[in-house]
Amino acid sequence: MEKNIFGFIVFCAFLLMQNLPILALTTTSLDLMPVPQEIKVINSEGFRLDAGFSVALDGYADARLYKAATRMLRRLSGRTGLFFPQDYITAKSNPTMPQMIIKTSRIGDLVVGEDESYQLTITENQVTLKAETDIGALRGLETFLQLLSVDEKGYYFPAVVINDAPRFPWRGLLIDVSRHFMPVEVIKRNLDGMAAVKMNVFHWHLADDQGFRVECQSWPKLHELGSDGFYYTRAQIKEIIAYAANRGIRVIPEFDVPAHATSWLVAYPELGSAPGPYSLERRWGIKDPIMDPTKEFTYEFLDKFFAEMAALFPDEYFHIGGDENNGNHWNTNDHIQQFMKDNNIPDNHALQTYFNKRILQILTKYGKKMIGWDEIFQPTLPADIIIHSWRGSEALVKSAQQGYMGILSNGYYIDLIQPAEYHYRNDPIPENTSLTEEEQKRILGGEATSWGELVTYETIDSRIWPRTAAIAERLWSPQSCNGIEDMYRRLEVVSFQLEELGLTHIKNYDMMLRRLTNNHNIAALKTFVDVVEPVKRYERLLQEITYTSYSPYTRVVDAARPESMTARRFSQLVDQFIENPKAPASHELTDLLKIWENNHSFLKPIIAKSPVLQEIETMSADLQELAETGLLAVRAYRKHKRLSRKQIESARAVLEKAKKPRGQVELMVIAPIEKLVLAAISNQK
Ligand code: ACM
Repeated sequence: MEKNIFGFIVFCAFLLMQNLPILALTTTSLDLMPVPQEIKVINSEGFRLDAGFSVALDGYADARLYKAATRMLRRLSGRTGLFFPQDYITAKSNPTMPQMIIKTSRIGDLVVGEDESYQLTITENQVTLKAETDIGALRGLETFLQLLSVDEKGYYFPAVVINDAPRFPWRGLLIDVSRHFMPVEVIKRNLDGMAAVKMNVFHWHLADDQGFRVECQSWPKLHELGSDGFYYTRAQIKEIIAYAANRGIRVIPEFDVPAHATSWLVAYPELGSAPGPYSLERRWGIKDPIMDPTKEFTYEFLDKFFAEMAALFPDEYFHIGGDENNGNHWNTNDHIQQFMKDNNIPDNHALQTYFNKRILQILTKYGKKMIGWDEIFQPTLPADIIIHSWRGSEALVKSAQQGYMGILSNGYYIDLIQPAEYHYRNDPIPENTSLTEEEQKRILGGEATSWGELVTYETIDSRIWPRTAAIAERLWSPQSCNGIEDMYRRLEVVSFQLEELGLTHIKNYDMMLRRLTNNHNIAALKTFVDVVEPVKRYERLLQEITYTSYSPYTRVVDAARPESMTARRFSQLVDQFIENPKAPASHELTDLLKIWENNHSFLKPIIAKSPVLQEIETMSADLQELAETGLLAVRAYRKHKRLSRKQIESARAVLEKAKKPRGQVELMVIAPIEKLVLAAISNQK
C-alpha cells in the first residue's frame, strides 16, 4: 500500500512537471464493476484506440497471461470491429513498439490470499498494466476492457491511474449441478462471467440426492447408477479446472456427506443407514437417506474415493457439505443407536462430528484442508478448516471468534430471487461488527449460491447474472463503495458486456417468450413479463405445484427476470413525479402507464392461442386496471382534483386484487401505483 501511494506521488509529480492537471473524480463516473480501490482520472486526452493497437508482455509472463492478453485483444476487436495485426500473443510475437505493456514479476499461485493487485496507467500514448502476479494482471485486463469508451471521434480509453486490490481473498460462485446437470459449456461461460467481475472461486456442488455428477474410477457405480448418464468425465473435469485456472479461478469440489447422499446410496446401498434399495430422488427438499457413520466400510469407501478425487481436484481445499442432516435414518437404525450408547455419543450432532473427524483424517492424509457448511462447526476441529456460513451470519462471527476462518453465503442465495440491492448491502464484515481486527482477518469473503432446483441450462445464466456482479463488487471493492443507484447504473452496463462471453441471461428471455407465445409476436407478453418477478425465497417450492427434476422450467415464472428493471424505473419516476409533477419524468411515467393500459387487449388474443399463458391472464387484466388507476391518480395529483369516494374504493380494490401472485409471479408496480393514489388523495384541495 505504502509503495503504491509513493508510486502515485511520484506519478503526480511527473504529471505536474508536465503541467497535466489531476482530477480526483468520484469513482462513479466510470462504468467499472467492481469499483477499484483507487482511481485517479487525469484531465487529459485519453488513449485513442485504432487498428494499430498492439500488446507486449514483459517480466515473468507465462502461458496463462499470453492467453488472457489474446482473449482481451479479441474481445476488444469484437466490440469495436477493428482489425488488429496481432493474432495470438506469444513471447515470440511481442511487438517492439507496443501501445500496451503488461508487466508482471512472478507467476501467481491458485491459493487463498494470492496477490491479485494491479496498477493500470493509461495516458495518451501508452497503456501500462503492472502487477506482482499474472493473476493480478488478469484482473487488470478486465478493468481495462470495462474502460473502453466511445465519443464522436471513435473509441478511446480515458486517461486514468488505477491502483487496485481485492478487499477479500475468497470471492466465489457455487453452481449446483446435481439438481439439474449443467453441460460443460454452461460452466465455462459462467467461469468467463466470474473472471469478468474478478471472482476467484468456483464452488462446484457435484453430488446430492438427485445426481452424482463425476466419473469415478474407484467406485464406478457412482456415476453409472447415480447420474442418469449426466456426469462429467474425468477429462471434462480436468478441462474445466484448466479453463478456470487460466482465468485465475480456483475450483473447490463439494461432495456433500453424510446427508444429501441418495445418489451415492443408489449405487452403493451398503453405505446407507437404512437397508434400501434406493432410487434417485426426483423431488426437492431435505431427504432421509444418509451414510452410516458407524460402519468401517463407509470410511474405507470414502478413503478410496477421496484419494481419487484429491488427485483430480488440485485445490488445497475440499468441501464436504455436512448440511441438513435430519437424522431420521440414524434414529431408526438399532445398530447406530447401540454404537452411540457404546461410545458415549449423546446426539446426532455429536455423531456427525465423529464422522467429520474421520473424514478430516482422510482429507489430511491426501493433503487437503476441509471446508463445510456451518453445521460442521464445533470447537475441537483444527484451525485451518473453513466454516461456510449459510444459515446466518452468526455462525461466521462465532467461528471467527473461536479462531476459525469463514466465508459467507447467507444473504448471497441468488436462487431466492431477491434484488441485487439486497445482496449488495450484505457485507461479510458489517460496519458495526463486534469482531476484533485479528478476528476480522479470518473472514475470507463469500460465495453466491446458484442452487439448482429451479434452473436449467436455459435459465441458469439469468438467475446468476447480472446480480452476482453486485456480490462480486461487495467482495472486491472497498466497504465505502455502497451507493445503490450507482451500483444499478454500472450493473446494467456490466450485464450487457457479459453477453459477449456467451452468457444467455439477456438473449434467452426473448427465446423463452417466443416459445410461450407459440411463435407469435412477443411484444405484448414482453411488456407484461417486464413488470413481473418470480415469487421470492422458498415460496415457489411451497406452493401447490410439486416440482421435480423433470418438470418444465419454461413457464412465465422461468422467463421472468429476478429483478424487474422496468418496475424499478417506474418506481423512481413516481417519486420524481410526486416531487415535481412538471418534471420531464412525468412524460415517461404516463407513457408507461398508457402502454400498460392498452397491453391486455394485445396480449389476450395471444393467450387464446397459447394455453400455457392462461395462468397469467387475470394478472394481465389487473395490469390494465392498475394502469387506469395510476393515470387517474396522475391527473388528479397534477390538478389537485378530488377523487370521489367511489374512485378511491375502486382504486383500493384494484390494488388489493393485483397483489395476489398467479403463475407464481407477482406484479412489481403495485406499490408505486399505490403511492400515486395516496399522493393524489393527500394532494387534493
Ligand atoms: C444449504 O443450503 N443447505 C447449504
